[in-house]
Amino acid sequence: MLENLDTRALYPSLKDKRVIISGGGSGIGAGLVEGFARQGARVAFVDIAKDASRDLCESLSGAAHVPVFRACDITDVSAYTDALGEMVEAIGGCDVLLNNAASDDRHTVAEVTPEYWDQRMAVNLKHQFFAAQAVAPKMKASGGGSIVNLGSISWHLGLEDLALYQTAKAAIEGLTRSLAREFGRDNIRVNTIVPGNVKTPRQEKWYTPEGEAEIVAAQCLDGRILPIDIAAMALFLASDDARFCTAHNYWVDAGWR
Ligand SMILES: NC(=O)c1ccc[n+]([C@@H]2O[C@H](COP(=O)([O-])OP(=O)(O)OC[C@H]3O[C@@H](n4cnc5c(N)ncnc54)[C@H](O)[C@@H]3O)[C@@H](O)[C@H]2O)c1
Repeated sequence: MLENLDTRALYPSLKDKRVIISGGGSGIGAGLVEGFARQGARVAFVDIAKDASRDLCESLSGAAHVPVFRACDITDVSAYTDALGEMVEAIGGCDVLLNNAASDDRHTVAEVTPEYWDQRMAVNLKHQFFAAQAVAPKMKASGGGSIVNLGSISWHLGLEDLALYQTAKAAIEGLTRSLAREFGRDNIRVNTIVPGNVKTPRQEKWYTPEGEAEIVAAQCLDGRILPIDIAAMALFLASDDARFCTAHNYWVDAGWR
Protein backbone atom coordinates (compact mmCIF):
# COMPACT_ATOMS: atom_id res chain seq x y z
CA MET A 1 0.00 0.00 0.00
CA LEU A 2 1.37 3.41 -0.97
CA GLU A 3 -0.33 4.89 2.08
CA ASN A 4 1.69 2.56 4.29
CA LEU A 5 4.28 4.63 6.17
CA ASP A 6 6.61 1.65 6.38
CA THR A 7 7.37 1.90 2.67
CA ARG A 8 8.24 5.62 2.84
CA ALA A 9 11.76 7.11 2.93
CA LEU A 10 13.66 7.89 6.11
CA TYR A 11 16.24 10.69 5.83
CA PRO A 12 19.21 10.35 8.20
CA SER A 13 19.82 14.11 7.91
CA LEU A 14 16.39 14.89 9.45
CA LYS A 15 17.02 13.05 12.71
CA ASP A 16 16.98 15.54 15.61
CA LYS A 17 16.44 18.47 13.18
CA ARG A 18 14.50 21.34 14.74
CA VAL A 19 11.33 21.89 12.73
CA ILE A 20 8.67 24.61 13.12
CA ILE A 21 5.29 24.26 11.41
CA SER A 22 2.34 26.67 11.24
CA GLY A 23 -1.18 25.24 11.12
CA GLY A 24 0.06 21.81 12.20
CA GLY A 25 -3.12 20.76 14.00
CA SER A 26 -5.10 19.35 11.09
CA GLY A 27 -5.09 18.63 7.35
CA ILE A 28 -1.77 18.82 5.52
CA GLY A 29 -0.14 20.42 8.58
CA ALA A 30 -0.94 17.36 10.70
CA GLY A 31 0.60 15.21 7.96
CA LEU A 32 3.74 17.38 8.16
CA VAL A 33 3.90 17.08 11.97
CA GLU A 34 3.54 13.29 11.73
CA GLY A 35 5.98 13.00 8.86
CA PHE A 36 8.77 14.94 10.57
CA ALA A 37 8.13 13.29 13.96
CA ARG A 38 8.54 9.91 12.23
CA GLN A 39 11.97 11.03 11.01
CA GLY A 40 13.06 11.59 14.62
CA ALA A 41 12.96 15.37 14.20
CA ARG A 42 12.14 17.78 17.02
CA VAL A 43 8.87 19.35 15.91
CA ALA A 44 7.04 22.39 17.28
CA PHE A 45 3.86 23.76 15.76
CA VAL A 46 1.23 26.47 16.19
CA ASP A 47 -2.48 26.34 15.46
CA ILE A 48 -5.75 27.85 16.66
CA ALA A 49 -7.39 24.42 16.78
CA LYS A 50 -6.42 23.47 20.32
CA ASP A 51 -8.25 20.16 20.74
CA ALA A 52 -7.15 18.72 17.40
CA SER A 53 -3.56 19.82 18.07
CA ARG A 54 -3.45 18.27 21.54
CA ASP A 55 -4.98 15.05 20.18
CA LEU A 56 -2.29 14.97 17.50
CA CYS A 57 0.51 15.33 20.08
CA GLU A 58 -1.13 12.60 22.17
CA SER A 59 -1.26 10.28 19.14
CA LEU A 60 2.49 10.83 18.67
CA SER A 61 3.43 10.19 22.30
CA GLY A 62 5.60 7.25 21.18
CA ALA A 63 7.80 9.43 18.92
CA ALA A 64 11.50 9.92 19.70
CA HIS A 65 10.63 13.58 20.29
CA VAL A 66 6.96 14.25 21.07
CA PRO A 67 5.86 17.35 19.10
CA VAL A 68 5.44 20.60 21.04
CA PHE A 69 2.20 22.57 20.50
CA ARG A 70 1.68 26.29 21.12
CA ALA A 71 -1.82 27.74 20.67
CA CYS A 72 -1.42 30.88 18.55
CA ASP A 73 -3.28 32.90 15.94
CA ILE A 74 -0.69 33.54 13.22
CA THR A 75 -2.57 36.63 11.99
CA ASP A 76 -1.34 38.43 15.13
CA VAL A 77 2.28 38.98 14.07
CA SER A 78 3.41 40.08 17.51
CA ALA A 79 1.87 37.03 19.25
CA TYR A 80 3.23 34.74 16.51
CA THR A 81 6.73 36.20 16.87
CA ASP A 82 6.55 35.49 20.61
CA ALA A 83 5.34 31.94 19.94
CA LEU A 84 8.18 31.40 17.44
CA GLY A 85 10.65 32.49 20.14
CA GLU A 86 9.09 30.05 22.63
CA MET A 87 9.19 27.20 20.12
CA VAL A 88 12.82 27.89 19.23
CA GLU A 89 13.58 27.81 22.96
CA ALA A 90 11.60 24.57 23.45
CA ILE A 91 13.29 22.61 20.64
CA GLY A 92 16.72 24.27 20.84
CA GLY A 93 16.77 26.24 17.56
CA CYS A 94 15.26 26.11 14.07
CA ASP A 95 16.63 24.26 11.05
CA VAL A 96 13.37 23.93 9.10
CA LEU A 97 10.35 26.25 8.81
CA LEU A 98 7.16 25.04 7.14
CA ASN A 99 4.85 27.99 6.40
CA ASN A 100 1.66 25.96 6.09
CA ALA A 101 -1.28 27.75 7.81
CA ALA A 102 -3.88 29.26 5.48
CA SER A 103 -7.62 29.70 5.01
CA ASP A 104 -9.39 29.20 1.69
CA ASP A 105 -12.71 30.84 2.57
CA ARG A 106 -14.82 31.62 -0.49
CA HIS A 107 -16.13 35.06 -1.52
CA THR A 108 -17.14 37.04 -4.57
CA VAL A 109 -15.20 40.14 -5.58
CA ALA A 110 -18.19 42.35 -4.69
CA GLU A 111 -18.19 41.07 -1.09
CA VAL A 112 -14.60 42.12 -0.34
CA THR A 113 -14.08 45.06 2.03
CA PRO A 114 -10.68 46.60 2.85
CA GLU A 115 -10.86 44.91 6.27
CA TYR A 116 -11.56 41.50 4.72
CA TRP A 117 -8.67 42.01 2.28
CA ASP A 118 -6.29 42.66 5.21
CA GLN A 119 -7.60 39.66 7.14
CA ARG A 120 -7.18 37.31 4.15
CA MET A 121 -3.64 38.55 3.46
CA ALA A 122 -2.82 38.13 7.16
CA VAL A 123 -3.92 34.49 7.27
CA ASN A 124 -2.59 33.49 3.85
CA LEU A 125 0.55 35.56 3.22
CA LYS A 126 1.86 37.97 5.86
CA HIS A 127 2.75 35.34 8.49
CA GLN A 128 4.95 33.48 5.97
CA PHE A 129 7.19 36.54 5.58
CA PHE A 130 7.42 37.39 9.29
CA ALA A 131 8.07 33.79 10.35
CA ALA A 132 10.93 33.57 7.83
CA GLN A 133 12.26 36.92 9.07
CA ALA A 134 12.16 35.67 12.68
CA VAL A 135 13.88 32.31 12.18
CA ALA A 136 16.46 33.19 9.50
CA PRO A 137 19.02 34.50 12.05
CA LYS A 138 18.71 31.23 14.01
CA MET A 139 19.27 29.22 10.83
CA LYS A 140 22.24 31.37 9.84
CA ALA A 141 23.79 30.93 13.29
CA SER A 142 23.67 27.15 12.95
CA GLY A 143 25.03 27.02 9.39
CA GLY A 144 21.86 27.06 7.27
CA GLY A 145 18.32 25.81 6.98
CA SER A 146 15.31 25.10 4.80
CA ILE A 147 12.12 27.16 4.50
CA VAL A 148 9.16 25.61 2.71
CA ASN A 149 6.19 27.81 1.80
CA LEU A 150 2.87 26.19 0.96
CA GLY A 151 1.49 27.66 -2.26
CA SER A 152 -1.48 26.38 -4.23
CA ILE A 153 -2.46 25.17 -7.68
CA SER A 154 -5.70 27.20 -7.36
CA TRP A 155 -4.46 30.45 -8.92
CA HIS A 156 -2.66 28.57 -11.70
CA LEU A 157 -6.06 27.12 -12.61
CA GLY A 158 -8.02 30.32 -11.85
CA LEU A 159 -10.70 28.74 -9.66
CA GLU A 160 -13.98 30.47 -8.72
CA ASP A 161 -14.71 32.56 -5.58
CA LEU A 162 -11.11 32.51 -4.33
CA ALA A 163 -9.74 35.88 -5.53
CA LEU A 164 -7.98 36.82 -2.29
CA TYR A 165 -6.64 33.35 -1.45
CA GLN A 166 -5.35 33.05 -5.01
CA THR A 167 -3.78 36.54 -4.87
CA ALA A 168 -1.94 35.58 -1.68
CA LYS A 169 -0.88 32.20 -3.06
CA ALA A 170 0.48 33.83 -6.22
CA ALA A 171 2.51 36.24 -4.06
CA ILE A 172 4.01 33.34 -2.11
CA GLU A 173 5.86 32.17 -5.22
CA GLY A 174 7.44 35.63 -5.54
CA LEU A 175 8.20 35.68 -1.82
CA THR A 176 9.98 32.34 -2.15
CA ARG A 177 12.26 33.59 -4.91
CA SER A 178 13.03 36.82 -3.03
CA LEU A 179 13.90 35.07 0.23
CA ALA A 180 15.93 32.41 -1.58
CA ARG A 181 18.07 35.15 -3.15
CA GLU A 182 18.58 37.08 0.09
CA PHE A 183 19.21 34.06 2.33
CA GLY A 184 21.12 31.86 -0.11
CA ARG A 185 24.62 32.94 0.97
CA ASP A 186 23.69 31.91 4.51
CA ASN A 187 22.94 28.42 3.17
CA ILE A 188 19.23 28.87 3.80
CA ARG A 189 17.15 27.31 1.03
CA VAL A 190 13.61 28.52 0.29
CA ASN A 191 11.09 26.66 -1.85
CA THR A 192 7.37 26.49 -2.54
CA ILE A 193 5.32 23.31 -2.56
CA VAL A 194 2.36 23.65 -4.91
CA PRO A 195 -0.28 21.11 -3.88
CA GLY A 196 -3.11 20.03 -6.16
CA ASN A 197 -6.33 19.06 -4.42
CA VAL A 198 -5.49 17.20 -1.23
CA LYS A 199 -8.09 15.13 0.60
CA THR A 200 -8.41 16.74 4.04
CA PRO A 201 -11.39 17.20 6.40
CA ARG A 202 -11.76 20.83 5.29
CA GLN A 203 -11.69 20.01 1.57
CA GLU A 204 -14.45 17.45 2.16
CA LYS A 205 -16.53 20.49 3.16
CA TRP A 206 -16.12 22.11 -0.27
CA TYR A 207 -16.37 19.08 -2.55
CA THR A 208 -19.15 16.55 -3.08
CA PRO A 209 -18.19 13.02 -4.24
CA GLU A 210 -19.10 14.20 -7.77
CA GLY A 211 -16.79 17.22 -7.39
CA GLU A 212 -13.95 14.97 -6.21
CA ALA A 213 -14.54 12.71 -9.21
CA GLU A 214 -14.25 15.74 -11.52
CA ILE A 215 -10.88 16.65 -10.00
CA VAL A 216 -9.59 13.10 -10.39
CA ALA A 217 -10.79 13.09 -14.00
CA ALA A 218 -8.79 16.29 -14.65
CA GLN A 219 -5.63 14.81 -13.09
CA CYS A 220 -3.21 12.73 -15.18
CA LEU A 221 -3.10 10.14 -12.39
CA ASP A 222 -6.00 8.36 -10.71
CA GLY A 223 -6.56 8.61 -6.96
CA ARG A 224 -6.74 11.31 -4.31
CA ILE A 225 -3.65 13.10 -3.02
CA LEU A 226 -3.26 12.75 0.77
CA PRO A 227 -1.39 14.88 3.34
CA ILE A 228 1.30 12.18 3.46
CA ASP A 229 2.07 12.92 -0.21
CA ILE A 230 2.68 16.60 0.49
CA ALA A 231 4.74 15.65 3.56
CA ALA A 232 6.90 13.41 1.33
CA MET A 233 7.94 16.44 -0.77
CA ALA A 234 8.47 18.58 2.34
CA LEU A 235 10.72 15.92 3.89
CA PHE A 236 12.85 15.80 0.76
CA LEU A 237 13.12 19.61 0.54
CA ALA A 238 14.07 19.84 4.22
CA SER A 239 16.69 17.09 3.97
CA ASP A 240 20.34 17.36 2.98
CA ASP A 241 19.45 15.40 -0.18
CA ALA A 242 17.93 18.66 -1.48
CA ARG A 243 21.05 20.73 -0.72
CA PHE A 244 21.06 22.47 -4.12
CA CYS A 245 17.30 22.89 -4.42
CA THR A 246 16.21 26.46 -3.80
CA ALA A 247 14.04 29.28 -5.23
CA HIS A 248 11.63 26.99 -7.04
CA ASN A 249 8.18 25.44 -7.04
CA TYR A 250 7.69 21.73 -6.43
CA TRP A 251 4.32 20.46 -7.57
CA VAL A 252 2.40 17.58 -6.02
CA ASP A 253 -0.80 17.71 -8.05
CA ALA A 254 -1.14 14.35 -9.84
CA GLY A 255 -0.91 16.36 -13.05
CA TRP A 256 -4.18 18.31 -12.48
CA ARG A 257 -4.81 20.59 -15.50
N1 LIG B 1 -5.89 20.76 0.87
C1 LIG B 1 -5.68 21.18 -0.38
O1 LIG B 1 -6.28 20.66 -1.33
C2 LIG B 1 -4.68 22.29 -0.67
C3 LIG B 1 -4.47 22.64 -2.01
C4 LIG B 1 -3.56 23.64 -2.32
C5 LIG B 1 -2.86 24.26 -1.30
N2 LIG B 1 -3.07 23.91 -0.02
C6 LIG B 1 -2.29 24.62 1.01
O2 LIG B 1 -1.74 23.69 1.93
C7 LIG B 1 -1.72 24.28 3.24
C8 LIG B 1 -2.51 23.41 4.19
O3 LIG B 1 -3.82 23.29 3.69
P1 LIG B 1 -4.92 22.37 4.37
O4 LIG B 1 -5.80 21.94 3.28
O5 LIG B 1 -4.31 21.38 5.27
O6 LIG B 1 -5.71 23.48 5.22
P2 LIG B 1 -6.68 23.25 6.47
O7 LIG B 1 -7.62 24.40 6.45
O8 LIG B 1 -7.23 21.88 6.46
O9 LIG B 1 -5.69 23.37 7.71
C9 LIG B 1 -5.05 24.60 7.98
C10 LIG B 1 -4.59 24.59 9.43
O10 LIG B 1 -4.20 25.92 9.74
C11 LIG B 1 -4.85 26.30 10.93
N3 LIG B 1 -5.08 27.75 10.93
C12 LIG B 1 -5.98 28.42 10.16
N4 LIG B 1 -5.97 29.72 10.48
C13 LIG B 1 -5.05 29.86 11.48
C14 LIG B 1 -4.61 30.97 12.24
N5 LIG B 1 -5.11 32.20 12.06
N6 LIG B 1 -3.63 30.76 13.17
C15 LIG B 1 -3.12 29.51 13.37
N7 LIG B 1 -3.53 28.44 12.68
C16 LIG B 1 -4.47 28.61 11.75
C17 LIG B 1 -6.15 25.55 10.95
O11 LIG B 1 -6.71 25.45 12.26
C18 LIG B 1 -5.74 24.21 10.39
O12 LIG B 1 -5.26 23.31 11.39
C19 LIG B 1 -2.29 25.68 3.08
O13 LIG B 1 -1.25 26.61 2.90
C20 LIG B 1 -3.14 25.57 1.83
O14 LIG B 1 -3.32 26.80 1.19
C21 LIG B 1 -3.98 22.94 0.32
